[in-house]
Amino acid sequence: MQSRTPTDSRTILTDLVLPSETNPLNNLFGGELLARMDRAASIAARRHSRSIVVTASVNHVAFNKAIPLGSVVTVEAAVSRAFKSSMEIFIDVWVEDRESGKRSKANEAIYTFVAVDETGSPINVPALVPETELEKSRFDAALRRKQLSLVLAGKMKPKDATELKALFKD
Ligand SMILES: CC(C)(COP(=O)(O)OP(=O)(O)OC[C@H]1O[C@@H](n2cnc3c(N)ncnc32)[C@H](O)[C@@H]1OP(=O)(O)O)[C@@H](O)C(=O)NCCC(=O)NCCS
Repeated sequence: MQSRTPTDSRTILTDLVLPSETNPLNNLFGGELLARMDRAASIAARRHSRSIVVTASVNHVAFNKAIPLGSVVTVEAAVSRAFKSSMEIFIDVWVEDRESGKRSKANEAIYTFVAVDETGSPINVPALVPETELEKSRFDAALRRKQLSLVLAGKMKPKDATELKALFKD
């Protein structure tokens, strides 16, 4: 199977924040942002695997900055590491200043998708080859995050999470 780079899967969704998508403080509702991130991540996973993909886990979400009504929001997703059938997707969320046009980082998230066949059974995906320094550091840390997610889901024994445990030594 031919390997792919994060650029091959990079997916950029830009959209406005409308009144029906806000909370009582007139900021973007968290669930709406989760849905936008899931959509972008699912396209990135599909571009990498060229197969049907399902969300297996939301590993991390940080709502660092409120996003006001009327904002232009860009959700940027790319595969950060591919395992056997699963892929980690890193998502960066940017907000555009109306006057200067300058983008600032508002949020980020990490999702896990699994490639499946028509019956929903997991299938193998191509390897990912990171290119930039940022892509390499996200790639390196992805195995620890996968182990943490599996431990939290009760699918891996903590004693088997070798790379994750190594983080806490010294
Ligand atoms: C995701 C799903 C296909 C996994 O099926 P499964 O029977 O657990 O299959 P496996 O145990 O072989 O796991 C498949 C891969 O997913 C990974 N995985 C499963 N659960 C995970 C979790 N919580 N976090 C990270 N990775 C996970 C496994 O490590 C494995 O990765 P690998 O093949 O790259 O090593 C299955 O649970 C499913 O279909 N879930 C519903 C998905 C869905 O409907 N999502 C939409 C939300 S409503």
